[in-house]
Amino acid sequence: MSSAAPVRWIATCPDDTKGVLVDELLALGVREPRAIYRGAAFEAPLELGYRAHLWLRTASRIQRIVADLPAGSAAALEAAAAAIPWSAWLLARVPFAVSPILTDAEAKSLGEPAVRGAVASAIARSFAAAGLPAPRCDGEADGAVTLVAHLRGGVCTLGLDTAGRALHKRGWRLPGHPAVLKETLAASVLLLAGYDGSEALLDPMCGSGTLVIEGAYLALHKAPLIHRGKDDFGFEHQAGFDRALWRRVSEQARAARLPAPLAPLFASDVKPEFVDLARKTALRARVEKHISFQVASLYDVQPPAPQGLVVANLPYGERIGRGQFAALYQEMGRTLRERFQKWRAALLVPAAAPGDALGLRPRREVALMNGALEVRLLLFEP
Ligand SMILES: C[S@@+](CC[C@H](N)C(=O)[O-])C[C@H]1O[C@@H](n2cnc3c(N)ncnc32)[C@H](O)[C@@H]1O
Repeated sequence: MSSAAPVRWIATCPDDTKGVLVDELLALGVREPRAIYRGAAFEAPLELGYRAHLWLRTASRIQRIVADLPAGSAAALEAAAAAIPWSAWLLARVPFAVSPILTDAEAKSLGEPAVRGAVASAIARSFAAAGLPAPRCDGEADGAVTLVAHLRGGVCTLGLDTAGRALHKRGWRLPGHPAVLKETLAASVLLLAGYDGSEALLDPMCGSGTLVIEGAYLALHKAPLIHRGKDDFGFEHQAGFDRALWRRVSEQARAARLPAPLAPLFASDVKPEFVDLARKTALRARVEKHISFQVASLYDVQPPAPQGLVVANLPYGERIGRGQFAALYQEMGRTLRERFQKWRAALLVPAAAPGDALGLRPRREVALMNGALEVRLLLFEP
């Protein structure tokens, strides 16, 4: 396939951040991305598709769409899928897994094993008809590529997972903090707050440093997935992988990085061990020299620049005592009112947090999920 021919893609994300994902796609130059349930669908040539894998900060995964097939019955699905020239999509030496997503009653009545079986048999038949050895269907196999079978309204959309590992796995996370934000959620928080790297950024409760590290990537125009290992993306193990094009796209991404951030970045936490962890994590992410770290309580932190954005993921009630929880929220409110009057602020708090303890009225609130926890992003302007 010519690298300029359009390819259909779906990037997935939590449903509440799909607007941010659509904006990211537009900024990458994708034309008319469409928000769908838990993601965005778009068409883009292979080159732009590869670029999306390196640059999308808020996508969980990406699929390259193979086809929409009739799926009124398992037999109909198998017949339609067998007509696809699967050797253009899958390599005989790489096993594959079929992951059914059955969204309505009709799809559920087929059942996962029947859908999996229909797609696997169709692939074997297609390779056999072409006189070629077929890949093994084995979801347990190391390095298996995943074929997502999404059924709705009698139609099965088959998509190859081209991300491989989930895209929040940037390649720099270290263990050691009990309440880390997912990298993709941290990026969503920053983008929802309108942070583009051109103003000072401070996380005064940085924990392992996720927010400030994602912030540094934005401020350096650095592609968030650039440090993934070789062979880490799903598309590297699928037919039609254009290694030369991928190398070129990766090199362009490396060249786009600025030598220094557009504006300074600061991070602090009351616990020295977390500041140490954040620094080590930033070192792995190769942004450590661009962030000023400090061990400090929120109660003592001073504005490190005349204005900027304070971003913080406040501790949750279960992890600290209820009384301390209220006191901390009051202190955060007081800190913003008295010391950070010229700063904007973006605070991620549990939905159940006593918002009025902050004593500040947010300009905007966004409901988000942090894993299974309902949270709110409170956005304040000076
Ligand atoms: C929910 S965690 C932040 C996690 C972080 N976003 C991450 O991804 O690793 C909240 C952090 O607030 C810190 N913290 C609690 N009380 C504090 C205070 N008074 N001053 C500064 N940091 C505080 C905790 O040590 C903890 O690391």
